[in-house]
Amino acid sequence: MESMGGLKRSHSCNDLAVENVGEVVTLMGWVLRRRDHGGVIFIDLRDRWGITQVVFNPEVHAEVHDKAHQLRSEWIIAVQGRVERRPPAMENPNLKTGAIEVLVDTLRVLNSSLTPPFPLDEEVEVSENLRLKYRYIDLRRPSMAANLIMRHRVAQSVRTYLDANNFLEIETPVLTRSTPEGARDYLVPSRVNAGKFYALPQSPQLFKQLLMVSGLDRYYQIVRCFRDEDLRADRQPEFTQIDMELSFVEEETIYEIIESMMLKLFKDVLGVVLTAPFARITYEEAMTRFGTDRPDTRFELELVDLTETVKDCSFNVFKTVVNKGGQVKSINAKGCGDFSRKDLDDLTGYVGQFGAKGLAWVKVKTGGEWQSPITKFFKAEERENISRELGAEENDVLFFVADTKMVVNQALSELRLELGRKLGLINTSTYNFVWVEDFPLLEYDHDEKRHVAVHHPFTAPKEEDLKFLEKDPGQVRSRAYDLVLNGIEIGGGSIRIHQKELQDEIFGALGIAREEALDKFGFLLQALELGAPPHGGIAFGLDRLLMIMAGRETIRDVIAFPKTQKATCPLTEAPASVARKQLTELYLRPDWE
Ligand code: AMO
Ligand code: AMP
Repeated sequence: MESMGGLKRSHSCNDLAVENVGEVVTLMGWVLRRRDHGGVIFIDLRDRWGITQVVFNPEVHAEVHDKAHQLRSEWIIAVQGRVERRPPAMENPNLKTGAIEVLVDTLRVLNSSLTPPFPLDEEVEVSENLRLKYRYIDLRRPSMAANLIMRHRVAQSVRTYLDANNFLEIETPVLTRSTPEGARDYLVPSRVNAGKFYALPQSPQLFKQLLMVSGLDRYYQIVRCFRDEDLRADRQPEFTQIDMELSFVEEETIYEIIESMMLKLFKDVLGVVLTAPFARITYEEAMTRFGTDRPDTRFELELVDLTETVKDCSFNVFKTVVNKGGQVKSINAKGCGDFSRKDLDDLTGYVGQFGAKGLAWVKVKTGGEWQSPITKFFKAEERENISRELGAEENDVLFFVADTKMVVNQALSELRLELGRKLGLINTSTYNFVWVEDFPLLEYDHDEKRHVAVHHPFTAPKEEDLKFLEKDPGQVRSRAYDLVLNGIEIGGGSIRIHQKELQDEIFGALGIAREEALDKFGFLLQALELGAPPHGGIAFGLDRLLMIMAGRETIRDVIAFPKTQKATCPLTEAPASVARKQLTELYLRPDWE
């Protein structure tokens, strides 16, 4: 193994082209492939930027050629040599450097490598666990490196935009108290304060509000947040927010600022021109038409509420559900008349995962006739009404779910997505943004037997709904909003409560006792009495936004060192055991031994 020996890299492995022919250059990188052709050795040399072919010719530099024989995949070398034009037949139009090669006269072997645990070819499928265990190798793959490069560009574009719009980047503590986002906290025991714990922040929510009280007016931070929740493809225990807060604003200003930020971001990073203003939909309408508060508006297949229409039919399943205050909703799968019995059974199984007890279906035949196990329960007039409401035509399949409102919406929103995928209805090259507004302020938590905040307890209610707060708290709408992109919630925020009386009133409605409120959030309540301006903000899930921009299925692919679904890191093997002494110092007594 050799040192760099004073060699200085002159170009990256993606720089050289025909214009450089004749120059003497120095390249450094990893051996991607070695090919021996009739004595001449060709090496594809790779670095972060690209690939350059370097050539060892025994007739020109015999000694160097001999040395090149030992090179293997992923060894690291420095080469110096002259740039030459490749013979026309040997050009590679797929490579930026494909018209040239470097004829090597100096080779230094900077490091060897064991055979990598998996090949770096993009086409080879490798288990994710192995990829995570050797993440540093996985990240050598150009497509994975590209995700991190894109991540950098996104952060850079956002910073430039926010700086130009008078936002200050301010850091907030990581060792703090429990914050109010509603997931479980990660706790850190204190060594110098026996029996006391810090919580890692679920978001900088309270601090950013305090910064508004400080008069800093516009804050942002690209910040790590920690939530101990069950993981999914778009959830990690630690993730990154683009977090913002603004003073003296209402919803419209926030929407405008975010829309132009997204326009710039998509233009800068993807070269995609978005149009603003973005669509808006109320929570109520989103639930009615799509069955979810994160509607994927790239395709139709909307839900239709048939509760009224079917309430007098003789199909017991529907009748019972309606009598119990439930719902019957339906989707018209257009042109799916050729679905087999197995297709229908599979879809029934699919909605079952989301709580549906069944999936009634009707195939629409010539003249609008129904073919279905449930035809007999509907009078001709009822069938006509249903068909009309669903716009049913020959060769359509109508699907129905009857249950509580929640189950119906959950099952049918998932069925809608499944049909969208199955039927290829989703245009994967568009970016459909939609603001979801007018969320309910509170929802009833059956476990806790009280109302809880849908967003967080500092979200302002709509003034005109305050009259319901006492008698019918579920009816109060909030000034919270989410931004949804292609069916994924990429951000959420709200106008906050900035007056103490109203904050007290909301804590009251949440059943949070005065002492509890003071204990948990006393510092914020006090700040509200010490000159808090009207303010509001929003936070984006940077990982989710990137997942969509990079066209990936999971946020793990856009995070350098993510955790598995079980919140572990196969590379470092975190979380890990610690020495008993460390526990003792933290006043922790294990009961797991
Ligand atoms: P919220 O809880 O909606 O709001 O979070 C904001 C955004 O963060 C992303 N996100 C996540 N991404 C990956 N993994 C997770 N576990 C995860 N949890 C959330 C989502 C989400 O839209 N303080 C408020 C914001 C505010 O009111 O200003 C907050 O944190 O994309
Ligand atoms: P059954 O009378 O239970 O055999 O059901 C007749 C049809 O109604 C079957 O296709 C079931 O899948 C469907 N079904 C049963 N329960 C429900 C429900 N809650 N919502 C919609 N369809 C249902």
